[in-house]
Amino acid sequence: MKITTDKDRVVIFDTTLRDGEQSPGATMTHEEKLEIAELLDDMGVDIIEAGFPIASEGDFKAVSEIAERSKTAVICGLARANFGDIDRCWDAVKNSENPRIHTFIGTSPLHRAIPNLDKDQMAQKIHDTVTHARNLCGNIQWSPMDATRTEHDYLCRVVEIAIKAGATTINIPDTVGYTAPLESADLIKMLIDKVPGADEVVFATHCHNDLGMATANSLAAVEGGARQIECTINGLGERAGNTALEEVVMALKVRGDIMPFYTNINTSKIMNISRRVASVSGFPVQFNKAIVGKNAFAHESGIHQDGMLKNSETFEIMRPEDVGLSATNLVLGKHSGRAALRSKLQDLGYNLADNQLKDVFVRFKELADRKKEVYDEDLIALMQAGEDAANDHIVLNELRVICGTTGPQEAAMKLTIGGEESSTTATGDGPVDATFNAVKSLYEHNAHLQLYQVHAVTEGTDAQATVSVRMEEDGNIATGQSADTDTVVASAKAYINALNRLFIRRGRTGQNKREVNWKDVS
Ligand code: KIV
Ligand code: ZN
Repeated sequence: MKITTDKDRVVIFDTTLRDGEQSPGATMTHEEKLEIAELLDDMGVDIIEAGFPIASEGDFKAVSEIAERSKTAVICGLARANFGDIDRCWDAVKNSENPRIHTFIGTSPLHRAIPNLDKDQMAQKIHDTVTHARNLCGNIQWSPMDATRTEHDYLCRVVEIAIKAGATTINIPDTVGYTAPLESADLIKMLIDKVPGADEVVFATHCHNDLGMATANSLAAVEGGARQIECTINGLGERAGNTALEEVVMALKVRGDIMPFYTNINTSKIMNISRRVASVSGFPVQFNKAIVGKNAFAHESGIHQDGMLKNSETFEIMRPEDVGLSATNLVLGKHSGRAALRSKLQDLGYNLADNQLKDVFVRFKELADRKKEVYDEDLIALMQAGEDAANDHIVLNELRVICGTTGPQEAAMKLTIGGEESSTTATGDGPVDATFNAVKSLYEHNAHLQLYQVHAVTEGTDAQATVSVRMEEDGNIATGQSADTDTVVASAKAYINALNRLFIRRGRTGQNKREVNWKDVS
């Protein structure tokens, strides 16, 4: 086996809070961003791209606070190629122990046409903006957006300019998920071979998953000489998403025999952060997703189970514990006490303060009264469900639904809105439609339903349902979640949770992140 040295260390750059959060519908609250940043830092992520500070007041505040709180990770902010963006980015990251400015411009023919710059004008802009950034901060990352569709000679030229102007990391984005593994490796190799000064900087790879090749392309780029992988938890990101952190990290760990590289990631923290990101983003993990999917370590067929009992390596290339899946299968029930609940939650990655545990214990008892056996999945759903906060604007007090083989179905509902209780009865095509109509008649709003999703947490007819509801109102998007053994109640609560989130967002000014034109570089 090849001994790994520092040149074999692959730096992990996580962009869940920037590229991931940019994905329509994945918007996180300020507190959620702080929590995810802390988890990323604890897991050993080297660089956290915390946001796009010029995009909104909210993004700026989140990046600044993450920068102030970070322990070990470098905190990075994104900036387009103009002085205003770069200055704003620096203001947001400068209080970090280890700040980085990441500035970018689209260099492919299609992207050059947008600001209407010719090759020389763009080269000059790259020189000026990277120089400006470097005068503010010693750690500069520069990205030629859509690099994989940029002419090679022009790419070499602009990478050289950025290095000479002071960039310390050169990131090569496959912005539209167009490249393939061999090409990805060759591109990095070509740049390292041809560009003067290339050995002075770190090359990074940033892949999107439009053709399902992001992980393979990222690993190939490492073979080609890249030593930074940009990725997100659960592969969150626009369209088909970004490279999934858990996939590249575990691939490097499990196949060190053919890919002699290593990362600093504590892989036992992967499952917990995956669940938190799924919960706060409202993007559930597909069941058969590599590494973090519900079925990734499940062996159901008889032949597999037999093999697993004899020797787990028969069908398992990694152990569930390696990614933080609890090995114990202790099932809780209505007689379980607070200590058992605390210990189980700790196993699942939730370390609660006494007052938080008190609140969760009440909800756990309510669930255990309705459901004989409370499994790990039930507890995770309980923790992830949008909690009814005492100061919620809209609160569900009562719901009764009448169903029948012939419609319409009917929902009778009582809500407290802004402290005042009101009630109504509404009909609809099915119980959920009737319930949502009842909410709408009590609380008029212009928000559009973008997504309604139901998952059964466990097997059995008493299983909890987790429901996600995504709503859009004037460009603001909010996802609400809830879990309940009654699917219609979970649906009502998730819908109300989304409306409460929109209500909070509407109350804040300057939080509309769509105000920035991504392509505006002048
Ligand atoms: O995909 C992309 O090109 C990006 C850049 C901003 C690096 O996210
Ligand atoms: Zn991207």
